[in-house]
Amino acid sequence: MKPVKRPYEVRQLVVCTNARDPATGKASCGMNGAEAMLGQLKKTLKERGLKGRVIATKSGCLDVCPDRGCIVGFHPEGEFFHEECTPEAGERLLARLTEGL
Ligand code: FES
Repeated sequence: MKPVKRPYEVRQLVVCTNARDPATGKASCGMNGAEAMLGQLKKTLKERGLKGRVIATKSGCLDVCPDRGCIVGFHPEGEFFHEECTPEAGERLLARLTEGL
């Protein structure tokens, strides 16, 4: 497979949207509102003109499952954040991660 080059650096937010069956008794981001968080992040990126330079996508379990909130990875930095799944938390996270872009 050949690497795909883009004309500019791209950062990626990956939001775990894994939703486990509640019968398992295990927490999962998808059951805590991660889809709404992802939608908010995409909307805000578009509003700020960052769409394409920062992409927000869903992912499966990132293996650090929280009891509350959701996990958001940021690449290429390779950082992971545990956030409440609220529009306000999404705004704060984006402000922090996209400062200077
Ligand atoms: S369910 Fe989200 S990190 Fe595991």
